Amino acid sequence: MADVHDAPVSNLVLPDPCLVLLVGVAGSGKSTLAARLFAPDEVLSSDAYREQISGDAADQRATRAAFAALHRDLRARLRSRRTAVVDATSLQRHARSALVRMARDASVPVVAIVLDLPEDLVLARNAARDRVVPEDAVRRQLAALRKALAPGGLEAEGYAQLIVARSAAEVAGLTLSRPPTRA
Ligand code: CTP
Ligand code: MG
Repeated sequence: MADVHDAPVSNLVLPDPCLVLLVGVAGSGKSTLAARLFAPDEVLSSDAYREQISGDAADQRATRAAFAALHRDLRARLRSRRTAVVDATSLQRHARSALVRMARDASVPVVAIVLDLPEDLVLARNAARDRVVPEDAVRRQLAALRKALAPGGLEAEGYAQLIVARSAAEVAGLTLSRPPTRA
């Protein structure tokens, strides 16, 4: 396996403001990547909202309330033309389309960053974590990701940029520039 230090560097040039959708299964490294590339206040994490609402980031019963709060804050952020990153799996088309609509309403472009890592790697990472997602749930998410990456999926959803990282090395090599967009 390629060492992360051999990673090809790939610089993302993102419009500012923009909405960044991270797309990936549990354990694919969405939160880790968001923390490396973006400021904490820019990242709206579904787990953080669940934690805030129910005291438990893994409490699926808090999902509806968590996304209602995330959507409310995202709308406000985009209206004030500030870049936002949604840290949620965003594997289902309906989950993405709600977010894309908010960005369109605010005339903010949407960039999707997809973490399509080898199945073995995400299952191993998930199993090694303190908060383990049941393996059958991760396998269902992997099937949803295949569907999102198939023709007619993400590529047809009109993103300003669609970035797909297929290995840990590629993710490690992602860097970011954000030239301000002229008003
Ligand atoms: N991890 C790692 N090396 C990376 C990225 C992540 O070892 N380059 C580990 C993290 O430390 C964590 C696990 O893999 O234990 C999952 O990473 P995380 O960023 O939490 O993944 P998410 O996609 O955010 O998972 P979830 O959807 O469950 O929040
Ligand atoms: Mg996470």
